[in-house]
Amino acid sequence: MIRKVVIPAAGWGVRFLPATKALPKEMLPLVDKPMIQYVVEEAISCNMEQIIIVTSSGKSAIEEHFDRDFELEYLLEQKKERELLEEVRGIAELSNICYVRQKEQLGLGHAILITRELIAGEPFAVFLPDDVFDAKVSPIKQMLQVYQRYQGSVVAVRRVARDELRSYGVIEPQQIEERVYQLLGVVEKPEPEAAPSDLAILGRYILTPEIFEALEVTPPGIGGEIQLTDALRLLAQRQAVYGYEFEGEYYDAGRPLGLLQATVGLALKHPKMGPDFKEFLKGIRRQL
Ligand code: UTP
Repeated sequence: MIRKVVIPAAGWGVRFLPATKALPKEMLPLVDKPMIQYVVEEAISCNMEQIIIVTSSGKSAIEEHFDRDFELEYLLEQKKERELLEEVRGIAELSNICYVRQKEQLGLGHAILITRELIAGEPFAVFLPDDVFDAKVSPIKQMLQVYQRYQGSVVAVRRVARDELRSYGVIEPQQIEERVYQLLGVVEKPEPEAAPSDLAILGRYILTPEIFEALEVTPPGIGGEIQLTDALRLLAQRQAVYGYEFEGEYYDAGRPLGLLQATVGLALKHPKMGPDFKEFLKGIRRQL
């Protein structure tokens, strides 16, 4: 059983500057909620008992977002804004979240490494808030089934156009069943001609606790950061690691164009705004 999830949210968000100068990237709105709220809700829907968010300086807005705000609740009560009040209270009641502070942004691998004591030797999940999925069954639920069958680490993978591979960790796969691959190797941000496949790793992971031993001996890699991909390669040499080609839509909301695409994709399906937004887009289309 997987009970704990790590949500790394300590990065600089350089690709979103200047929007992220004073605002954490993870707090940028996606339709009507901050990006990070989607992953917290996803964790709760998967029955995760403990949510560990990795933050850094300048990210206090994240903690405030998931905390009670009695003044605001009082104001909404006075204004008889029942629906908004429920919504605001609901966010604070979402779950028991704990925070770990990454004092220096030494990379995604390092952000995970500092949660070691809280994870305390259990298998756990990692959700990256800027990888947005739109699927009937969330990718992590699909991956949990693979974990149950094979009892090894599972990473989400997806086929990506060759010229985009240099933005991802790319696996060297050995197919073992439909949509399931064993990792023979993995390369971080390869040039397309050097990529071992077109299967890129995306931001949902189920990891065995042995990943911490691998992270501990992983030297800084590309960009001087401790890369989770490099630790996965070490782990795959010691125990089987699997890639699962999930079913569903994916948006890379870690860059402005991707966030825009995710916003349009999700807004079209929004129960309240969707129909009006669709009409708006039809109008725009006529002008193109
Ligand atoms: P990204 O590379 O997408 O995030 O890392 P970033 O570093 O904030 O973005 P850019 O490249 O500067 O634009 C994936 C996830 O890992 C977290 C980020 O917050 C993001 O959720 N991360 C990254 C950390 O928590 N610590 C780090 O040192 C680096």
